Amino acid sequence: MQPDLWFFILSTKCDRREHAWGRFCFLARYKRIQIAQILPKRNRTLKKTNNKRNGQHTNWDAVANWYDGWMGKKGSHHHRHLAVPTVMQMLKPATNDRVLDIGCGQGVLAKPILQSGATYAGIDASQKLLTIAKKRHAQHPKARFLLADATKLDSYTYLKANLFSCGVFLLSIQDMSPLDKVLRSVSHCLMENGRLIILMTHPCFRIPRQSGWGWDKQRKLRYRRIDNYLTKLQVPMKTHKHGTTRSYHRPLQTYINELGNNGFMIDQIREIPIGDLMKSDRSKAEKRADMEFPLFLAIRAVKIVDSHK
Ligand SMILES: C[S@@+](CC[C@H](N)C(=O)[O-])C[C@H]1O[C@@H](n2cnc3c(N)ncnc32)[C@H](O)[C@@H]1O
Repeated sequence: MQPDLWFFILSTKCDRREHAWGRFCFLARYKRIQIAQILPKRNRTLKKTNNKRNGQHTNWDAVANWYDGWMGKKGSHHHRHLAVPTVMQMLKPATNDRVLDIGCGQGVLAKPILQSGATYAGIDASQKLLTIAKKRHAQHPKARFLLADATKLDSYTYLKANLFSCGVFLLSIQDMSPLDKVLRSVSHCLMENGRLIILMTHPCFRIPRQSGWGWDKQRKLRYRRIDNYLTKLQVPMKTHKHGTTRSYHRPLQTYINELGNNGFMIDQIREIPIGDLMKSDRSKAEKRADMEFPLFLAIRAVKIVDSHK
Protein backbone atom coordinates (compact mmCIF):
# COMPACT_ATOMS: atom_id res chain seq x y z
CA MET A 1 0.00 0.00 0.00
CA GLN A 2 1.19 3.55 -0.79
CA PRO A 3 2.56 5.37 2.28
CA ASP A 4 0.27 8.30 1.49
CA LEU A 5 -2.69 5.97 1.77
CA TRP A 6 -1.49 4.73 5.18
CA PHE A 7 -1.20 8.31 6.29
CA PHE A 8 -4.69 9.03 5.07
CA ILE A 9 -6.12 6.04 7.00
CA LEU A 10 -4.24 7.04 10.13
CA SER A 11 -5.42 10.63 9.86
CA THR A 12 -9.04 9.74 9.41
CA LYS A 13 -9.05 7.20 12.25
CA CYS A 14 -7.37 9.53 14.70
CA ASP A 15 -9.00 12.11 16.84
CA ARG A 16 -7.60 15.42 15.58
CA ARG A 17 -5.81 16.95 18.61
CA GLU A 18 -4.84 13.82 20.50
CA HIS A 19 -3.11 12.20 17.59
CA ALA A 20 -1.72 15.21 15.78
CA TRP A 21 1.75 14.44 17.18
CA GLY A 22 1.42 10.81 16.12
CA ARG A 23 0.51 11.87 12.59
CA PHE A 24 3.42 14.29 12.49
CA CYS A 25 5.89 11.59 13.60
CA PHE A 26 4.48 9.18 11.07
CA LEU A 27 4.86 11.68 8.26
CA ALA A 28 8.30 12.73 9.48
CA ARG A 29 9.50 9.14 9.49
CA TYR A 30 8.03 8.57 6.06
CA LYS A 31 9.77 11.63 4.67
CA ARG A 32 12.99 10.50 6.43
CA ILE A 33 13.20 13.73 8.38
CA GLN A 34 15.37 13.57 11.51
CA ILE A 35 13.00 14.51 14.31
CA ALA A 36 15.97 15.65 16.40
CA GLN A 37 16.55 18.44 13.90
CA ILE A 38 13.03 19.70 14.27
CA LEU A 39 12.45 19.34 18.02
CA PRO A 40 12.93 22.46 20.13
CA LYS A 41 16.09 22.30 22.25
CA ARG A 42 14.18 21.73 25.51
CA ASN A 43 12.62 18.52 24.20
CA ARG A 44 15.93 17.29 22.87
CA THR A 45 17.46 17.54 26.34
CA LEU A 46 14.52 15.66 27.75
CA LYS A 47 15.02 12.86 25.24
CA LYS A 48 18.67 12.57 26.15
CA THR A 49 17.91 12.27 29.86
CA ASN A 50 15.38 9.58 29.17
CA ASN A 51 17.92 7.65 27.14
CA LYS A 52 20.30 7.74 30.08
CA ARG A 53 17.59 6.39 32.34
CA ASN A 54 16.98 3.53 29.92
CA GLY A 55 20.40 2.25 30.98
CA GLN A 56 21.29 -0.53 33.36
CA HIS A 57 19.19 0.36 36.38
CA THR A 58 16.93 3.02 37.76
CA ASN A 59 18.05 4.50 41.01
CA TRP A 60 16.12 3.31 44.02
CA ASP A 61 17.82 5.82 46.30
CA ALA A 62 15.00 8.32 45.85
CA VAL A 63 12.42 5.79 47.02
CA ALA A 64 14.60 4.03 49.62
CA ASN A 65 12.95 5.56 52.69
CA TRP A 66 9.49 5.04 51.28
CA TYR A 67 10.31 1.40 50.42
CA ASP A 68 11.78 0.71 53.83
CA GLY A 69 8.74 2.28 55.54
CA TRP A 70 6.42 0.10 53.47
CA MET A 71 8.48 -3.07 54.04
CA GLY A 72 9.35 -2.61 57.70
CA LYS A 73 11.91 -4.84 59.38
CA LYS A 74 10.13 -8.07 58.52
CA GLY A 75 9.00 -7.34 54.97
CA SER A 76 5.60 -6.62 53.43
CA HIS A 77 2.60 -8.88 53.97
CA HIS A 78 3.40 -10.63 50.68
CA HIS A 79 7.06 -11.02 51.61
CA ARG A 80 6.30 -12.58 54.99
CA HIS A 81 3.52 -14.92 53.96
CA LEU A 82 4.36 -15.81 50.42
CA ALA A 83 7.60 -14.65 48.80
CA VAL A 84 10.18 -15.38 51.51
CA PRO A 85 8.67 -18.76 52.57
CA THR A 86 8.60 -19.88 48.92
CA VAL A 87 12.23 -18.88 48.36
CA MET A 88 13.31 -20.70 51.52
CA GLN A 89 11.37 -23.87 50.59
CA MET A 90 12.82 -23.97 47.08
CA LEU A 91 16.35 -23.01 48.09
CA LYS A 92 16.67 -25.18 51.20
CA PRO A 93 19.95 -23.47 52.23
CA ALA A 94 22.46 -25.55 54.19
CA THR A 95 25.13 -24.28 56.59
CA ASN A 96 27.88 -24.62 54.01
CA ASP A 97 25.96 -22.67 51.33
CA ARG A 98 27.02 -19.22 50.20
CA VAL A 99 23.97 -17.26 49.05
CA LEU A 100 24.08 -14.23 46.76
CA ASP A 101 20.96 -12.05 47.03
CA ILE A 102 20.81 -10.02 43.81
CA GLY A 103 18.91 -6.75 44.29
CA CYS A 104 18.73 -7.29 48.04
CA GLY A 105 17.12 -3.90 48.76
CA GLN A 106 16.92 -3.24 52.50
CA GLY A 107 17.92 -6.85 53.18
CA VAL A 108 14.67 -8.63 53.96
CA LEU A 109 16.13 -12.01 52.95
CA ALA A 110 19.26 -11.71 55.11
CA LYS A 111 17.67 -12.86 58.37
CA PRO A 112 16.08 -16.12 57.16
CA ILE A 113 19.22 -17.05 55.21
CA LEU A 114 21.49 -16.34 58.18
CA GLN A 115 19.15 -18.25 60.49
CA SER A 116 19.60 -21.30 58.26
CA GLY A 117 23.33 -21.13 58.99
CA ALA A 118 24.34 -20.22 55.42
CA THR A 119 26.61 -17.31 54.49
CA TYR A 120 24.81 -14.33 52.99
CA ALA A 121 25.92 -11.62 50.53
CA GLY A 122 23.47 -8.98 49.39
CA ILE A 123 24.23 -6.79 46.38
CA ASP A 124 22.22 -3.79 45.26
CA ALA A 125 22.64 -0.70 43.11
CA SER A 126 21.04 1.57 45.71
CA GLN A 127 23.47 2.91 48.29
CA LYS A 128 20.62 4.09 50.52
CA LEU A 129 18.88 0.72 50.64
CA LEU A 130 22.22 -0.94 51.37
CA THR A 131 22.85 1.45 54.27
CA ILE A 132 19.53 0.42 55.80
CA ALA A 133 20.31 -3.25 55.19
CA LYS A 134 23.76 -2.92 56.78
CA LYS A 135 22.37 -1.21 59.88
CA ARG A 136 20.07 -4.18 60.46
CA HIS A 137 22.22 -7.14 59.49
CA ALA A 138 25.88 -6.31 58.81
CA GLN A 139 26.98 -7.07 62.39
CA HIS A 140 26.32 -10.76 61.71
CA PRO A 141 29.69 -12.45 61.00
CA LYS A 142 28.30 -14.33 57.98
CA ALA A 143 26.66 -11.28 56.32
CA ARG A 144 28.09 -8.94 53.67
CA PHE A 145 26.48 -6.12 51.66
CA LEU A 146 28.00 -4.73 48.48
CA LEU A 147 27.16 -1.90 46.14
CA ALA A 148 27.11 -3.51 42.70
CA ASP A 149 25.30 -3.45 39.40
CA ALA A 150 23.70 -6.81 38.65
CA THR A 151 24.44 -6.43 34.94
CA LYS A 152 28.21 -6.54 35.49
CA LEU A 153 28.98 -8.63 38.54
CA ASP A 154 31.91 -10.15 36.64
CA SER A 155 33.69 -6.76 36.72
CA TYR A 156 34.04 -6.58 40.53
CA THR A 157 37.26 -8.10 41.83
CA TYR A 158 35.65 -9.05 45.15
CA LEU A 159 32.95 -11.12 43.40
CA LYS A 160 35.11 -13.94 42.12
CA ALA A 161 33.93 -16.47 39.57
CA ASN A 162 32.15 -19.55 40.98
CA LEU A 163 32.13 -18.05 44.48
CA PHE A 164 28.50 -18.72 45.41
CA SER A 165 26.52 -21.95 45.66
CA CYS A 166 23.15 -20.15 45.49
CA GLY A 167 21.70 -17.03 43.91
CA VAL A 168 18.33 -15.43 44.63
CA PHE A 169 16.29 -12.74 42.92
CA LEU A 170 13.57 -11.85 45.38
CA LEU A 171 11.11 -9.63 43.52
CA SER A 172 14.02 -7.87 41.88
CA ILE A 173 14.60 -9.39 38.44
CA GLN A 174 11.68 -7.48 36.95
CA ASP A 175 13.37 -4.24 37.95
CA MET A 176 16.60 -5.14 36.14
CA SER A 177 17.63 -4.76 32.54
CA PRO A 178 18.96 -6.05 30.21
CA LEU A 179 18.06 -9.56 31.28
CA ASP A 180 20.75 -11.35 29.24
CA LYS A 181 23.51 -9.36 30.94
CA VAL A 182 22.01 -9.88 34.39
CA LEU A 183 21.82 -13.66 33.96
CA ARG A 184 25.27 -13.85 32.39
CA SER A 185 26.86 -11.98 35.28
CA VAL A 186 25.01 -14.06 37.89
CA SER A 187 26.06 -17.23 36.11
CA HIS A 188 29.65 -16.01 36.43
CA CYS A 189 29.31 -15.80 40.24
CA LEU A 190 27.66 -19.21 40.69
CA MET A 191 29.57 -22.46 40.93
CA GLU A 192 28.65 -25.49 38.85
CA ASN A 193 25.46 -27.13 40.18
CA GLY A 194 24.70 -23.86 41.98
CA ARG A 195 20.99 -23.17 42.49
CA LEU A 196 19.28 -20.01 41.30
CA ILE A 197 15.87 -19.01 42.65
CA ILE A 198 13.87 -16.34 40.89
CA LEU A 199 10.74 -15.11 42.62
CA MET A 200 8.85 -12.55 40.57
CA THR A 201 5.46 -11.23 39.67
CA HIS A 202 3.98 -13.70 37.20
CA PRO A 203 4.82 -12.41 33.71
CA CYS A 204 1.71 -14.04 32.22
CA PHE A 205 -0.85 -12.69 34.67
CA ARG A 206 0.59 -9.58 36.23
CA ILE A 207 1.83 -7.12 33.67
CA PRO A 208 2.16 -3.54 34.88
CA ARG A 209 -0.59 -1.39 33.34
CA GLN A 210 -1.54 -4.22 30.99
CA SER A 211 -3.50 -6.55 33.27
CA GLY A 212 -6.23 -6.31 35.87
CA TRP A 213 -9.45 -7.79 37.17
CA GLY A 214 -12.76 -7.66 35.33
CA TRP A 215 -16.33 -8.63 36.15
CA ASP A 216 -18.41 -10.74 33.79
CA LYS A 217 -21.98 -9.80 34.71
CA GLN A 218 -23.66 -12.60 32.82
CA ARG A 219 -21.50 -15.39 34.21
CA LYS A 220 -21.03 -13.67 37.59
CA LEU A 221 -17.36 -14.31 37.21
CA ARG A 222 -14.28 -12.40 38.16
CA TYR A 223 -11.83 -12.74 35.31
CA ARG A 224 -8.24 -11.68 34.67
CA ARG A 225 -7.84 -9.28 31.79
CA ILE A 226 -4.56 -9.28 29.84
CA ASP A 227 -4.22 -6.46 27.33
CA ASN A 228 -0.69 -7.15 26.04
CA TYR A 229 1.67 -10.02 26.66
CA LEU A 230 4.30 -10.78 24.03
CA THR A 231 5.58 -7.22 23.67
CA LYS A 232 8.44 -6.40 26.02
CA LEU A 233 7.76 -3.28 28.04
CA GLN A 234 9.54 -0.80 30.24
CA VAL A 235 7.02 0.65 32.64
CA PRO A 236 7.74 3.66 34.87
CA MET A 237 6.34 2.89 38.34
CA LYS A 238 4.96 5.99 39.99
CA THR A 239 2.88 4.34 42.66
CA HIS A 240 4.78 6.23 45.31
CA LYS A 241 5.25 10.00 45.47
CA HIS A 242 8.99 10.08 45.97
CA GLY A 243 10.42 8.95 42.66
CA THR A 244 10.00 6.74 39.66
CA THR A 245 11.49 3.30 39.29
CA ARG A 246 11.16 1.06 36.27
CA SER A 247 9.62 -2.35 35.85
CA TYR A 248 10.42 -4.51 32.84
CA HIS A 249 7.85 -6.86 31.40
CA ARG A 250 9.10 -9.80 29.33
CA PRO A 251 7.12 -12.82 28.22
CA LEU A 252 7.83 -16.12 29.95
CA GLN A 253 9.74 -17.47 26.93
CA THR A 254 12.34 -14.70 27.35
CA TYR A 255 13.09 -15.78 30.94
CA ILE A 256 13.26 -19.46 30.05
CA ASN A 257 15.38 -18.95 26.94
CA GLU A 258 17.79 -16.54 28.64
CA LEU A 259 18.26 -18.98 31.52
CA GLY A 260 19.10 -21.68 28.97
CA ASN A 261 21.45 -19.35 27.07
CA ASN A 262 23.38 -18.70 30.27
CA GLY A 263 23.92 -22.31 31.27
CA PHE A 264 20.92 -22.84 33.56
CA MET A 265 18.47 -25.72 33.56
CA ILE A 266 15.08 -25.20 35.20
CA ASP A 267 14.16 -28.01 37.60
CA GLN A 268 11.14 -26.57 39.39
CA ILE A 269 8.58 -23.83 39.00
CA ARG A 270 5.78 -22.74 41.30
CA GLU A 271 2.86 -20.60 40.21
CA ILE A 272 1.63 -18.89 43.31
CA PRO A 273 -1.83 -17.41 43.77
CA ILE A 274 -2.38 -14.93 46.58
CA GLY A 275 -5.09 -17.31 47.85
CA ASP A 276 -6.32 -16.40 51.32
CA LEU A 277 -3.71 -13.77 51.90
CA MET A 278 -5.94 -10.80 51.26
CA LYS A 279 -8.73 -9.36 53.41
CA SER A 280 -11.36 -11.86 54.46
CA ASP A 281 -14.49 -9.89 53.42
CA ARG A 282 -14.17 -10.91 49.78
CA SER A 283 -17.02 -12.18 47.64
CA LYS A 284 -17.12 -15.82 46.54
CA ALA A 285 -16.07 -14.75 43.03
CA GLU A 286 -13.09 -12.79 44.38
CA LYS A 287 -11.97 -15.73 46.53
CA ARG A 288 -12.19 -18.08 43.57
CA ALA A 289 -10.17 -15.74 41.37
CA ASP A 290 -7.55 -15.25 44.10
CA MET A 291 -7.12 -19.04 44.25
CA GLU A 292 -7.17 -19.53 40.50
CA PHE A 293 -4.75 -16.94 39.09
CA PRO A 294 -1.10 -17.11 40.13
CA LEU A 295 0.13 -13.55 40.47
CA PHE A 296 3.62 -14.71 41.46
CA LEU A 297 6.00 -17.13 39.79
CA ALA A 298 9.00 -18.86 41.33
CA ILE A 299 11.61 -20.59 39.19
CA ARG A 300 14.43 -22.81 40.41
CA ALA A 301 17.30 -23.39 38.01
CA VAL A 302 20.62 -25.18 38.30
CA LYS A 303 23.79 -23.96 36.64
CA ILE A 304 24.96 -26.85 34.52
CA VAL A 305 27.28 -25.12 32.05
CA ASP A 306 29.84 -22.39 32.49
CA SER A 307 28.53 -20.28 29.62
CA HIS A 308 30.81 -17.32 30.42
CA LYS A 309 34.01 -19.27 29.77
C1 LIG B 1 11.52 -4.31 44.31
S1 LIG B 1 13.12 -4.06 44.99
C2 LIG B 1 13.33 -5.64 45.78
C3 LIG B 1 14.28 -5.58 46.90
C4 LIG B 1 14.33 -6.83 47.79
N1 LIG B 1 14.78 -7.99 47.08
C5 LIG B 1 13.00 -7.06 48.42
O1 LIG B 1 12.35 -8.06 48.10
O2 LIG B 1 12.58 -6.24 49.23
C6 LIG B 1 14.19 -4.15 43.58
C7 LIG B 1 15.65 -3.92 43.92
O3 LIG B 1 16.45 -4.17 42.77
C8 LIG B 1 17.53 -3.26 42.79
N2 LIG B 1 18.08 -3.14 41.44
C9 LIG B 1 17.49 -2.75 40.31
N3 LIG B 1 18.34 -2.80 39.27
C10 LIG B 1 19.53 -3.25 39.78
C11 LIG B 1 20.81 -3.53 39.21
N4 LIG B 1 21.03 -3.37 37.90
N5 LIG B 1 21.78 -3.97 40.02
C12 LIG B 1 21.57 -4.16 41.34
N6 LIG B 1 20.38 -3.91 41.93
C13 LIG B 1 19.37 -3.46 41.16
C14 LIG B 1 16.92 -1.97 43.29
O4 LIG B 1 17.90 -1.07 43.76
C15 LIG B 1 15.98 -2.50 44.37
O5 LIG B 1 16.59 -2.56 45.62
